[in-house]
Amino acid sequence: MSKYKIASLFAGIGGIDYGFEYAGAKSIWANEIDKYCALTFNLNHKDTHLIVDDICNINGKDIPKVDILTGGFPCQPFSIAGYRKGFEDDRGNMFFQVMRLVKEMSENDNKPRVIFLENVKNLKTHDKGNTFVVIKSKLEEAGYIVNEKILNTCEYGNLPQNRERIFIVGFLKEKDFNNFKWPEKVKLTNTIDKVVDWNANVDKKYLYESDKKCYELLKENIKEKNVIYQYRRVYVRENKGGVCPTLTANMGMGGHNVPLIIDNKNRIRKLLPMECLKLQGFPNNFKIPKELCDSRVYKQAGNAVSVKVIERVAKQIIKAMEETDNEID
Ligand SMILES: C[S@@+](CC[C@H](N)C(=O)[O-])C[C@H]1O[C@@H](n2cnc3c(N)ncnc32)[C@H](O)[C@@H]1O
Repeated sequence: MSKYKIASLFAGIGGIDYGFEYAGAKSIWANEIDKYCALTFNLNHKDTHLIVDDICNINGKDIPKVDILTGGFPCQPFSIAGYRKGFEDDRGNMFFQVMRLVKEMSENDNKPRVIFLENVKNLKTHDKGNTFVVIKSKLEEAGYIVNEKILNTCEYGNLPQNRERIFIVGFLKEKDFNNFKWPEKVKLTNTIDKVVDWNANVDKKYLYESDKKCYELLKENIKEKNVIYQYRRVYVRENKGGVCPTLTANMGMGGHNVPLIIDNKNRIRKLLPMECLKLQGFPNNFKIPKELCDSRVYKQAGNAVSVKVIERVAKQIIKAMEETDNEID
């Protein structure tokens, strides 16, 4: 059994759980509101106890003893005026829910030693910077020393996806904070050609054939092999730099949001759901529940984290904790 345990909030399909487990921690408890995410999570994380409920209904005292609390929470504006007046009971705000749980966990002698948060890059500039100021100061008020950095998946995760995300780590122990270093950049060797199956025999539903309205436009523009394209209503954009554009949750919302390729049989097709999951670093043996339609899986993949980036940051967090634990005072 691993030494450090994590509890995972806003767990989705468990990308953060995978990252921390690959780094040597153990995911023992998770929370997620969406029942479709829960189907996928449960199929792939058999040893984690997932509570399928609104975080607002969770009591921190019911969270088992853990070392690290994680969460990629939805980014929402704060009522800054209310905040200045000390009004904190913004129950709808997911970050405040995280802090409420931390408080309840502390009261139960279960204050997480590390808090790990992930979010979109513009969390830092969101609401003219207010959102981030509030987040940082709330973590500090709770006793955490905060370090944050924006990391791009294609630079830090050896995955061919352009995905910039902010990672926030709060340390309760000053020694952990001092021991912690962000991972270094890595060379991208895991290129698109290794993730996409250019010879795959795919179902017709993934193909763009002459019966589709946009076919002529696509045929005109999608010509290069080993390139991922994006269709945007009136034009097709080639994604330069040999990486896939950021996978987003709205891939699951129909339209033409799923990235496109031209395969070895010269057929234009969407990336497959499993290819999208691989572009996020999910393992080859990742299981997709049979009862889920593609749009849900695309959404889950776009909403997830890049597992390899999480793994590299998690390794650094665990290393810092181990160094502290091994130090002889
Ligand atoms: C950005 S996704 C996080 C995905 C996750 N990191 C992964 O790798 O799959 C945010 C998640 O928060 C969940 N969520 C949103 N509101 C919630 C709430 N009130 N209580 C619990 N979960 C919630 C969403 O369903 C979504 O799965």
